[in-house]
Formats: sequence, structure tokens, C-alpha cells
Amino acid sequence: MSILAGKRIILGITGSVAAYKSIYLASNLVQAGAVVDVLLTEAAMSFVGKASFEGITGRRAYSSVMEMTPEGSISHVEIGLSADAMLVAPATADIVAKLAMGFASDIVSATALSLRGALLVAPAMESRMYRNKATTDNIDTLVSRGVHVIAPNTGRLASGVDGEGRLPEPDELIDELRGRLGAEGPLRGKRIVVTAGGTREHLDPVRYIGNRATGKQGVALAVEARDRGGMVTLIVANPSIRIPGGLKVISVSNYAELEKATKLEVASCDALIMNAAVGDFLPEQVAECKIKSGESGIVLELNRSPDLLSSVSGEFIRIGFAAETSELEDNARRKLKIKCLDAIVANDVGSAFATDTNEVTIIRADESTIKVPKQSKEGIATRVIDELIEMFSLREA
Ligand code: CTP
Repeated sequence: MSILAGKRIILGITGSVAAYKSIYLASNLVQAGAVVDVLLTEAAMSFVGKASFEGITGRRAYSSVMEMTPEGSISHVEIGLSADAMLVAPATADIVAKLAMGFASDIVSATALSLRGALLVAPAMESRMYRNKATTDNIDTLVSRGVHVIAPNTGRLASGVDGEGRLPEPDELIDELRGRLGAEGPLRGKRIVVTAGGTREHLDPVRYIGNRATGKQGVALAVEARDRGGMVTLIVANPSIRIPGGLKVISVSNYAELEKATKLEVASCDALIMNAAVGDFLPEQVAECKIKSGESGIVLELNRSPDLLSSVSGEFIRIGFAAETSELEDNARRKLKIKCLDAIVANDVGSAFATDTNEVTIIRADESTIKVPKQSKEGIATRVIDELIEMFSLREA
């Protein structure tokens, strides 16, 4: 279940062209299970209207401190007190200044003052406005008070030029919000390394030997660990997967890069979740030039890659994955023992590879098993991270 499920989120929208993205943002938040209250400044109302947000959230949207909630209480006080977090996106230079000064002259700034939960601010404006000392000082003030300021992206701005100041995409903003909501979670202070995707071994500048792993399960594990407060390093072997925010990301391609990154990162980690489908066979030679097809076939000489998971040891918790096509549990148990793991997550290749769902059996070091029925990879990740949290609490008991 998403960390956003059942959370009360205030979406504060101010007068920027980027306000159109807030419609998607509100929709994605609602789809993730959040209860969303939308507040718009008068300037925001020049770009987007209440009707869109009321239709998406199923709740009243507010644009003035004079408006009352349906229960008759003062909107900005009641909503501010009951929210888990408030995200101001897009935040103009004007609202950033007002928030820094503690103004209460519009519904967004007034609500921020009565807020109990976390405040996140996503500035979006022209580069020169964003880089102006007045704005940067105001942002510094907000950061010093514990406000989570989301840095804008660089890209095409409303003026038509490319520069810094573009509002991040809705999913990027939601990543930041999720990370912030989970910051105090049970993995707080824990450093978690997750490997994901499938390695590729080049035969020549054009061809490679790879596997069907997409990295979706590994990314879901990294996101779940982040949302429970962990400091997560994602080592990912897939150049095209969307990488969520709030993670330290190391992109790798082949076994050698994965090995180097993993050994470096585990030196200071508390847990390793080895989800990557590591290539078992490495070409004896990588041709510098494209191998010409000619008229006959070729014979490839492949060497067995060393088992990475077995070669990294230390005080940290180690969770492996087992990809099987037959005798799932027996094979997984064998790998659990040989690789001396704290747990192994066994999945059938048919149900795990290149899909959005998975079905796994978690086998603990004492060989007790948990069968996790077919569900989204996010759901599987939740269950695996529950197990990791349990392992930490047993160690620390
Ligand atoms: N693994 C690893 N290094 C390798 C191969 C696998 O660290 N060279 C890790 C995987 O990331 C996974 C676990 O070991 O966590 C099991 O991987 P899997 O592919 O299921 O099995 P293998 O150990 O490669 O054995 P087999 O191919 O015989 O099933």
C-alpha cells in the first residue's frame, strides 16, 4: 500500500503557467489514495479553475481565507491542522517571499502558518527570478526552518528559453512528498543498497548478451525502503527505466561495473537487497570492431562470472533473490545456504520477468517461509521491506 494511502495532503497552487501540471499532480495523488485539499491563490485562478480540482479530488477547493469548510470552520485553520503535509506547487517567487516572511495574505500562505504537518515548496519561475538574491535568501530561510524545498528542473521555461526554474513533473514531486512523509519511518538512519535490472555483456560494439530483467521489482524495493525512511542507494542496470527521486542512483551496464559499485556501496551499508539479474556468463573476449556476420556461425567462449552476493560479506543484512523455472523452493533454499543469506525471495521466471506483477516465496535463514500471492511489484516490495524491518528489530532487540 502506498505511503500516500489515507494521507491528508494540501496542494497549494500559485500563479505560474506551470499550474496546469497541478491538475495531473492532484489526479496522481488521489490515485495513490491521498485525500487532497486544493488551495488556489487568486493569481493561480487566472491559470486553472476550481472545477477541475473539485472534479478530481471530490472535495471543495478554496481560494480565499474568507471561505468556510462545509462543517462551518475556518478553512485555512481546519485544513492546515488536519493535514499530514502541504505541497506548494508551483510556488512563485511571490509565495516563496510570503512564506519566508510569515505573511497570511492569501489562502496558501495563511494555511502554511497553521500547518502541523510537513511543508514542501516547489519553486517554478524564470531563471533570473529564481537566481535573484532576494529569492535565494528566502529559499535559504525556508530551508533553515525545516521546509523541504524541491529544486526546479532545467528546461524550457514559459519565456521560451531554456533555463533553471521549470516545475518538476508530477511524479517527481510525488516522489519528494513520499520521501518526506516516510522520513521518520522504521528504516530511519539505515543505509540500504538495492541492485536492480539485468546486466549486459558486450560481445562487440553492437551486440551483447543480456537477460529479460527490467529492474521494475528492484526500483519498487528501493522506493519502498525510501518511503520507510531509509537512505537508499539504487544500483541499476537498465538505461531506460524511470528513476524515482530521493535515491542515490548508480547506473551500471555489465558485471564488472555492478561488482565495482556494489563492493563500494556495501562497505558502509546496513542491508543489501540483491535483486539484479546478474549475468552468469562473461565473454572471454570483447571484439573492438563489429564482428562481421560472414557466411558461417561463430562459437562464443564464455566464462562463469564469480558470484557477487557470496563475495560480499560483513555485518549487514543480505537478502538475495532466486529466479527459477523449476523446483522453486528447493533451489532457493540451496542458494540461501550456499550464499549464507539472511533471507531469499524466490520467484518463478514466468511470473517475475518483464511484467508489472510478481508472486514470491520469502524464505528466512531459519527456513520458515512466507508465500506472497500475485500482486503488483510495489505490493511485493512492501512485503519484502516489512521482512527487512523485522530483521533489523530482531537484531536490535
Ligand atoms: N547473483 C550474484 N552474482 C552472480 C549471480 C547471481 O550476486 N554472478 C545473485 C543474484 O543477484 C540473486 C542471487 O545471486 O540475488 C541468485 O541469483 P540467480 O540468478 O537466481 O541464481 P544463480 O546464483 O545465478 O544460480 P543459477 O543460475 O544456477 O540459478
